[in-house]
Amino acid sequence: MNTTRIAKVIMPFALLLIISMPSCYYDNTEETYPGGVPCDTSAVTWTLDIQPMVNGHCSGCHNGTQQFDISTYASVKAIVIDGRMMQAMSMMQGMPKKMPPGYSLPDCTLLKTQLWIDQGALEN
Ligand code: HEC
Repeated sequence: MNTTRIAKVIMPFALLLIISMPSCYYDNTEETYPGGVPCDTSAVTWTLDIQPMVNGHCSGCHNGTQQFDISTYASVKAIVIDGRMMQAMSMMQGMPKKMPPGYSLPDCTLLKTQLWIDQGALEN
């Protein structure tokens, strides 16, 4: 019968299929989450995320003797409200008031901190 006509109809779809195939290879977890660890932002809390981060990276200096205190929830909340916490933490490396000085926290930590602030910086 009319095989040429059928071929003409099928050909564009066949080509499309072939062209779109290589994209499957890029659809893997390593590519989507560099390092293999996704950033879990589903439930960010003061107790499990922010307090350990502040204890580990901030209150060593900000303990009230060398620098103003940010070792308690209330004192952290104060620098959240005046906007200085995220401002200091998201500065580029090398800026004088970049916090913590000398190294950068992982993007995931910054993302979680921003989320916690956006959700009202609760003592949760
Ligand atoms: C190695 C010690 C050290 C660590 C760790 C550190 N800071 Fe600081 N921080 C300082 C010093 C010193 C200043 C004063 C800098 C200045 O005024 O030039 C400062 C200033 C600040 C300021 C005020 C900036 C301004 O605009 O005046 C904020 C806010 C701050 N730190 C937040 C943090 C946070 C949040 C962390 C943890 C993520 C942190 N710091 C970790 C030493 C530290």
